[in-house]
Amino acid sequence: MKGGAPPLGQPLMAGLEVIRVQALAPATTLLWLKAPEGFPKPFPGQFAKLRALGPPQIPLKGGRALLDKPFSFHGADGDSLAFLIREVGTETAILATLSPGAKVRLTGPLGAVRPELSGKGPLLLVAGGAGLGPMGMFRAQGFGPISLLYGERDASFQVGQGFLRGLADRVLPFTDDGSGHGEKGLVTQGLERELKADGPKPLVFCCGPPGLLREAARLCRERDVRLYVSAEAFMACGLGICLSCSIPAKGGGRVRVCVDGPVFPGDTAFP
Ligand SMILES: Cc1cc2nc3c(=O)[nH]c(=O)nc-3n(C[C@H](O)[C@H](O)[C@H](O)COP(=O)(O)OP(=O)(O)OC[C@H]3O[C@@H](n4cnc5c(N)ncnc54)[C@H](O)[C@@H]3O)c2cc1C
Ligand code: FES
Repeated sequence: MKGGAPPLGQPLMAGLEVIRVQALAPATTLLWLKAPEGFPKPFPGQFAKLRALGPPQIPLKGGRALLDKPFSFHGADGDSLAFLIREVGTETAILATLSPGAKVRLTGPLGAVRPELSGKGPLLLVAGGAGLGPMGMFRAQGFGPISLLYGERDASFQVGQGFLRGLADRVLPFTDDGSGHGEKGLVTQGLERELKADGPKPLVFCCGPPGLLREAARLCRERDVRLYVSAEAFMACGLGICLSCSIPAKGGGRVRVCVDGPVFPGDTAFP
């Protein structure tokens, strides 16, 4: 096993109360949970496994998943924990339709602590779709200015500009078909342009589908820009035991996304 996993910290499992549910787009919801006393402040890119408790508020076509599902921390302010939920299947649909007062089981924080994701200087966030999940965690990390490149397939998935402006000093949205606000095209076009611009080199953090992570890695390598990527994989234990989340590492061997990542230096791991 490659990767030299940074420290995990002590995860906690608890049933937490939903305190706010905010619709950001037709398939995207921000879910706020009441933080338990003394909950450790998560680092950017760390995640929790979530499961809605109690009877689902929507009709189900099949059964529920056996396993709790992983979601990046979007926000953590001491009293509350926020998660951005993109509806893609049963468990995300159940989480997105919860009401305040409902209970969610949380196990976390999980994932490696990456102190490299705090510091000074320009930060460039690159999000594809649900890759917007971890992007709320950077405001308190000392960076500045923060720019956010955010891509979606079309306008129906796009989160509003008011919300996006809370995440960064500068926001550059893209839709593949040009139907939304911002530019037409892939978010990687924006990344290429930003990397070519004059000025100090930013630290780049990218989260989204594997193709986006690979292209971001190529572009950053070409220009010798430091990149971190948040990788996705199917997860069972989330604790480094079952190996269900292992992915090939560049140069041979494998890494476990749940404990060696999910954040990896862009030049060491690829989904
Ligand atoms: C470390 C990590 C952080 C994540 N953070 C977020 C987040 O902040 N916000 C968010 O909305 N989602 C996030 N995800 C993805 C989220 O866990 C899945 O979308 C969720 O488990 C789907 O559950 P479901 O029961 O709704 O759908 P399912 O019925 O399980 O799946 C629906 C579809 O999504 C695909 N899918 C499910 N899980 C994954 C996965 N892990 N990787 C790739 N494809 C998958 C399935 O193949 C299927 O096509 C994260 C995943 C990981 C590993
Ligand atoms: S999910 Fe079990 S090792 Fe990562």
